[in-house]
Amino acid sequence: MTATATATAFGAGAQIVCDNLVRIFKSEGVEVVALQGLDLLVQEGEVVAIVGASGSGKSTLLNVLSGLDVPSAGVARVAGADLLTMSARDRVRYRRQTVGFLFQQAMHNLLPYLSASENIQLPMTLAGVPRRERPERAAELLDLLGIPDCGERRMAQLSGGQQQRVALGVAMANRPKVLLADEPTGELDTQSSAEVFEAIRRANAAYGTTVVLVTHDPLVSEQVQRTVGIRDGRTSSEVRRRTEIGSDGGEALIAEEYAVLDRAGRLQLPREFTEALDMRDRVRLDLETDHIGVWPDLPSGAETDGVPGEGGRGEAGPGEAGPGEAGPGEGGAR
Ligand SMILES: Nc1ncnc2c1ncn2[C@@H]1O[C@H](COP(=O)(O)OP(=O)(O)OP(=O)(O)O)[C@@H](O)[C@H]1O
Ligand SMILES: [Mg+2]
Repeated sequence: MTATATATAFGAGAQIVCDNLVRIFKSEGVEVVALQGLDLLVQEGEVVAIVGASGSGKSTLLNVLSGLDVPSAGVARVAGADLLTMSARDRVRYRRQTVGFLFQQAMHNLLPYLSASENIQLPMTLAGVPRRERPERAAELLDLLGIPDCGERRMAQLSGGQQQRVALGVAMANRPKVLLADEPTGELDTQSSAEVFEAIRRANAAYGTTVVLVTHDPLVSEQVQRTVGIRDGRTSSEVRRRTEIGSDGGEALIAEEYAVLDRAGRLQLPREFTEALDMRDRVRLDLETDHIGVWPDLPSGAETDGVPGEGGRGEAGPGEAGPGEAGPGEGGAR
């Protein structure tokens, strides 16, 4: 697989590397390409929010990263583990120790008849943490997550936000390198969402855990250093945030929005932009000294209602690389 060699350079040093990731679902003869050559790099210790319309591939991506699902082609590596080629045994260990996950429904991670502390100790038992260390480690987590006095309570005795923080404790029990969360605040009110998000941030700060979380909640996505937008199974945009000290000495949050240029040179233009200028099918590109101009391909002179002019430019521009990319192609591990 030649892609592996290039990917080493592409994702060198990153903790999460997705390179030209493809996931095709086949059901009843219909193919759905949920991930269409997605590239993503996440550095150790980062907190990244993934946003995108329903059906854009966010959960598919998270399921791949969590080792639940195997991609059809491409490269997916997390903390050195190759998610396409890993053995069933390594996959079990990976899911137990390298990654932790959090779902929209807290109860997905929890057993109702156990106390909060027992729930958090359960993954430790599976990972072979000595019995005497477990209660102490669970108490430390409950404390960190802001629910120190909930240890003895059963799930029915906790609020939704408290349950989700216990679920976070379960996810963090074996101190995973990476925490993956799919809409963890999706079912919570504003106050509980803020508490859960704060708990995630504390886990990140205390253990240096890398966090990738899918969210529709602007309160969450606007507070992380990096928000990655997914459209049609590919990363399409990115917002980076940093704080700067202004001239008045106060802290200001600076957010900078970028479009993602993938390694094949593909760029997704925001729909509002293309619609505002009625750009379709093809555009004209001009290389300037410090930027690239993109113009609609207006029919010149004798236009024939909507049919792009026969300007002798049969080709799409260089930014529009077709599906027959030199990537790892179809028919990989599945
Ligand atoms: N197991 C499956 N079988 C067939 N198609 C699937 C399967 N899982 C997902 N898909 C399809 O893949 C695409 C991406 O789905 P995905 O669940 O990743 O979207 P999402 O971004 O998480 O959406 P939402 O915001 O609604 O949760 C959708 O078209 C979906 O219907
Ligand atoms: Mg989803």
